[in-house]
Amino acid sequence: MLKLADQFKDGVTSSPIRRIMEMASPDNLVKMGLDPNDVISFAGGWVNHEAPEELRQEYIAIAKDRDLFHKTGAYSPSDGSPELKKALIDFNQQIFGAASKEENIIIGANSTQLAYSLFKVLLNPGDKIALLDPAYANYPEQIEMGVNCQMVCFPVFDEEKWAFVNDEQKLITDFEQFIEKEKPKLLLFSSPDNPTGTMVPDFFVKKALEITLKNDCFVAIDFAYNTFVYTTDQPEYFTYSVADYPNLVKLYSNSKWCRGLGRRLGWLEADENIIQALKVVQQCVVLCPDTIHQLTLANYINKGLKDGSLATYINRINEDYKSAAAFLCECINKYLSPRFTLPQGGLYSVVDVGMNGDEFVENVLKKTGVIFVPGGGFGDSLKNGIRISFGPLVYDKAKIEEGFQRVAKVVKKLSINSGS
Ligand SMILES: Cc1ncc(COP(=O)(O)O)c(C=O)c1O
Repeated sequence: MLKLADQFKDGVTSSPIRRIMEMASPDNLVKMGLDPNDVISFAGGWVNHEAPEELRQEYIAIAKDRDLFHKTGAYSPSDGSPELKKALIDFNQQIFGAASKEENIIIGANSTQLAYSLFKVLLNPGDKIALLDPAYANYPEQIEMGVNCQMVCFPVFDEEKWAFVNDEQKLITDFEQFIEKEKPKLLLFSSPDNPTGTMVPDFFVKKALEITLKNDCFVAIDFAYNTFVYTTDQPEYFTYSVADYPNLVKLYSNSKWCRGLGRRLGWLEADENIIQALKVVQQCVVLCPDTIHQLTLANYINKGLKDGSLATYINRINEDYKSAAAFLCECINKYLSPRFTLPQGGLYSVVDVGMNGDEFVENVLKKTGVIFVPGGGFGDSLKNGIRISFGPLVYDKAKIEEGFQRVAKVVKKLSINSGS
């Protein structure tokens, strides 16, 4: 087995997504004859709205208070501050109607670290971990790097219809067979989903929890995008509690909703024994989450829930992203392809480009300076697709349209618009 550093030297672990991001680095763009300032990127999995002003004010208040600032220079408990846990319980209750208990929560540096730590807690070498196909592209790499486990994928995307499989009965029967055959110890998926923007349907989650429970398998739902919901109602499982569903693990992050990407924290809800084991793993990995972000977030949540400003903020931001999602879909339909997923939440849509996504993305970047992400890195079902993110351009519809106008010229020339 090669050391990881050697594998990188040999290019073994270079994922298609990382390749495109390397290709789109400013130095490389210049080498390709492109002006980095003129490039339009639909690749970034990040949000671009402002953090709540009240949150900024909390940082200011802490920085101004000499004693408080000194206190935030101390380690917090390994599993996070009890004050923030209490605030997060209120947040989940008031924003999503979900009940949680302090003993079922651990706060981590971010949800990426918590997912990685969860693998260490739930999986033994040789165990299987199940993902949906397609899935967030970071999961396979985390699994590959973190644990000596086999990844198995359950297909949920209908390439013909270019949508989440909608034959409920068949999906459940196939899922049951898949779980009984593969016997994974953990199923992990995000909802709203990265990359398709789909909300994993209630019927599937309900049944999946039942089937997996019978087969000694946990279900971890990654709620990184749970405040970005464009359907009339949120899914029912947003309110499921780990007290009622013993094999459920809920993974949360403040990266997206309060634009906390660079100030982020994650938290996880699960059975108390899992939380205790995670605490030990977390001690080894990060020792504890950042104190200043925990204190600031707890203060902000407590005040924002009380005066209603937090719910107002979340609703306003949700409307902004909903509007950008609708505009993006108009542009995709008008300029690129009628086959795309309608975002029900989150930041993304996937588009059928009728040819290998890697080649499409490389060609379009070279000719137009527009960057997409090839779909294959998210799963086989999207190999002829691309992922489009509207997060960074949420307030720049003119740029969204300009990007598609540029692409339309090249797409027409190559006649790669499948149009079916
Ligand atoms: C589905 C999903 N989960 C988790 C993350 C990262 O979360 P965090 O910033 O808390 O590590 C992302 C980021 O793009 C994501 O798309």
